[in-house]
Amino acid sequence: MTEFIHEPVLLEEALSALQPAAGLLYVDGTVGGGGHAEAILSASGPDGRLVGFDRDDWALAAAARRLKQFGDRLELYREPFAGLAKRLGKASCDGVLLDLGVSSPQLDEAERGFSFQVEGPLDMRMDRRQPVSAAQLVNELEAGELATIFWELGGERRSRRIARAIVEQRDMQRIETTTQLADTVERACPRRGARTHPATGVFQALRMAVNDELGQVQAGLDAAWSVLKLGGRLAVITFHSGEDRLVKQFSRRLAKPYTVRGEVDVPELREPREPLARELSRKAIKPSDAEVGRNPRSRSAQMRAMEKL
Ligand SMILES: C[S@@+](CC[C@H](N)C(=O)[O-])C[C@H]1O[C@@H](n2cnc3c(N)ncnc32)[C@H](O)[C@@H]1O
Repeated sequence: MTEFIHEPVLLEEALSALQPAAGLLYVDGTVGGGGHAEAILSASGPDGRLVGFDRDDWALAAAARRLKQFGDRLELYREPFAGLAKRLGKASCDGVLLDLGVSSPQLDEAERGFSFQVEGPLDMRMDRRQPVSAAQLVNELEAGELATIFWELGGERRSRRIARAIVEQRDMQRIETTTQLADTVERACPRRGARTHPATGVFQALRMAVNDELGQVQAGLDAAWSVLKLGGRLAVITFHSGEDRLVKQFSRRLAKPYTVRGEVDVPELREPREPLARELSRKAIKPSDAEVGRNPRSRSAQMRAMEKL
């Protein structure tokens, strides 16, 4: 295994949203290599505490090494963040951070099967105790189910054509590796000078399906909100438009001075109430040009942050 080095994205922006301070309690739902966690613990010294979650044992081991110096100010759990409320009391925390997706070392490690750029088993599980891998989805789902995943999670316009090509290929031989899948997609949709690899959307979609990433975000937002104190802050960094949409809908709904009786927000169905959240900025915060220059993987990042009222 390579060394676990991940450059935290939107670090200054996340700190300015969370405003870590001594004596307070923070949650990092996606502790990864521990970059954000380290900054939060440093800024909340000498006695701020942090509870960190990650589904990936490799990431968690790297975080434990990096954060050793903080001793019992830190607690780590190998669990999905959707369940974080089981570990923390209602209204007990001052800030929660979710930095979604996967980290650079996970992407670069061939064995994990997240990337079409390196040959490896078609795995993509963040938690390797989980039974279903990408190879199972690719070899066992119906063409229609695959096309839906590619379209809905990868925004892939040629989803049906790609799904058909996968089914034809696997009828001859099971697709077991990242490169077999990438080659199958490329044969169905030749590159023709495009800058991005034609399998980009397919890989993203499969990863999100294998790890139920949208389901985690939905449940994780509710869980994070329930553990926050009044005045506590939630910051969420996303790398996918579907995830950002969920976060935006969540904060907009809480920030409204009314609830809606029914599905559609029309004035006749509104019932006034005090807003439950304040959006720290109306628009999503994006990395500066300097950050994108330093760390090109940050280019699709967006952060939304809100305060519990
Ligand atoms: C972008 S990285 C976080 C990097 C981290 N902020 C840092 O500074 O090093 C995302 C991490 O979240 C983990 N992860 C993604 N979804 C998760 C979930 N639902 N529950 C727990 N961990 C998750 C991944 O395994 C990965 O380690």
